[in-house]
Amino acid sequence: VLDVKAREGSYPVYIGPGARRSFPSILSRLGVGSRVHVVTDRAVARLHGRDLTRRLTSAGHETSTTVLPPGEKSKCVRELARVWRDCIQAGCDRRSVIVALGGGVVGDLAGFAAASLLRGLPFVQVPTTLLAMADASVGGKTGINLPEGKNLVGAFHAPLAVVMDTEYLKTLPQRELRAGWAEVVKTAAILDRRFWSFVERDALRMSRGHPPTVARAIEWSARLKASVVEKDEMESGLRMVLNFGHTLAHAIEAVGRYGTLLHGEAVAIGMIFAARLGERLGRTPAGTAARLEEVLRVLGLPRRLPKLPPSRLLQAMARDKKRGPRGLRWVLLKRLGTAEVVDGVPPSLVECELESFGKEQGGS
Ligand SMILES: NC(=O)c1ccc[n+]([C@@H]2O[C@H](COP(=O)([O-])OP(=O)(O)OC[C@H]3O[C@@H](n4cnc5c(N)ncnc54)[C@H](O)[C@@H]3O)[C@@H](O)[C@H]2O)c1
Ligand SMILES: [Zn+2]
Repeated sequence: VLDVKAREGSYPVYIGPGARRSFPSILSRLGVGSRVHVVTDRAVARLHGRDLTRRLTSAGHETSTTVLPPGEKSKCVRELARVWRDCIQAGCDRRSVIVALGGGVVGDLAGFAAASLLRGLPFVQVPTTLLAMADASVGGKTGINLPEGKNLVGAFHAPLAVVMDTEYLKTLPQRELRAGWAEVVKTAAILDRRFWSFVERDALRMSRGHPPTVARAIEWSARLKASVVEKDEMESGLRMVLNFGHTLAHAIEAVGRYGTLLHGEAVAIGMIFAARLGERLGRTPAGTAARLEEVLRVLGLPRRLPKLPPSRLLQAMARDKKRGPRGLRWVLLKRLGTAEVVDGVPPSLVECELESFGKEQGGS
């Protein structure tokens, strides 16, 4: 168990194979009411939904459910409104708990529904993807996308608890597993040299889904993320480094209407771009982008821009939330294992690098 300190009180993160079995007893320890509203998506519901609701009902809970269509497109206003209304119709009050059973899409949406409904309900994360375990379920950022941009509506709302059962990963499709590795690589590259060495050395084992290596990577990544959000929960400084690779990634996702690449895939491309930009600025040692790219290659991630108009990408990047007083704010690598936030990167330089990056083919 990992304990994460938050402004609303600290919350436990349970990690391990079979953690779902203790789910009802974890809930009763948290002292919440008996009504539980489960938010999940169709694919996860089919595989794991009944098992979880059965555990809840046999522990005496009354349950109701919202099932979303799978995928990033569901992180939207319409599905959010459906969760709100389903909860009210099911009789939820402020003692009820919202449970997010699924990946980062489900967690972000259900978390924001919990943050906003009745001015705040408690919620519990039960992540079922590698990405959500290693990254999204820890830290209390919740939100939805708009057609205008990614995560533009949201709130900080810490979960009551996170229950990570690594056995859920057995049913996760390969492509989703690979996408999850991108955030793990990110965490290592920005925060910890030792973790970076682990990732560089064990990338092949990770890509093959070797269970102890996967478990170790999840735990390491979640622990590092927790230590950052504990120091800067509301993202006034330090936490910003977690956005490494995300400036371009969010633009790719929005311009591709949340249907071209998975979030993790876009992050892989965005990280290579940010590393190249850092090298061009002389802030990142030469050869860093190549090392990053090699790890991402072994993990089976795309490494070049999809066919999207560069002008639209630049426009979307200009709308990014991470803006400083002097224009766009970039997270750059000082070296593998350490990052810095840099203000005032000249837009012309970004444009120039984007153009040369876009011309290179065959990386993916
Ligand atoms: N809040 C944060 O701090 C934070 C951090 C990183 C990413 N995110 C967000 O997370 C989202 C991406 O999350 P994701 O990659 O988990 O996407 P996701 O929630 O869409 O899940 C990916 C896919 O895997 C399927 N799936 C999930 N668990 C499964 C299982 N155990 N077996 C079989 N199929 C399963 C789902 O149906 C879905 O189609 C993005 O919106 C991103 O912005 C948030
Ligand atoms: Zn991300």
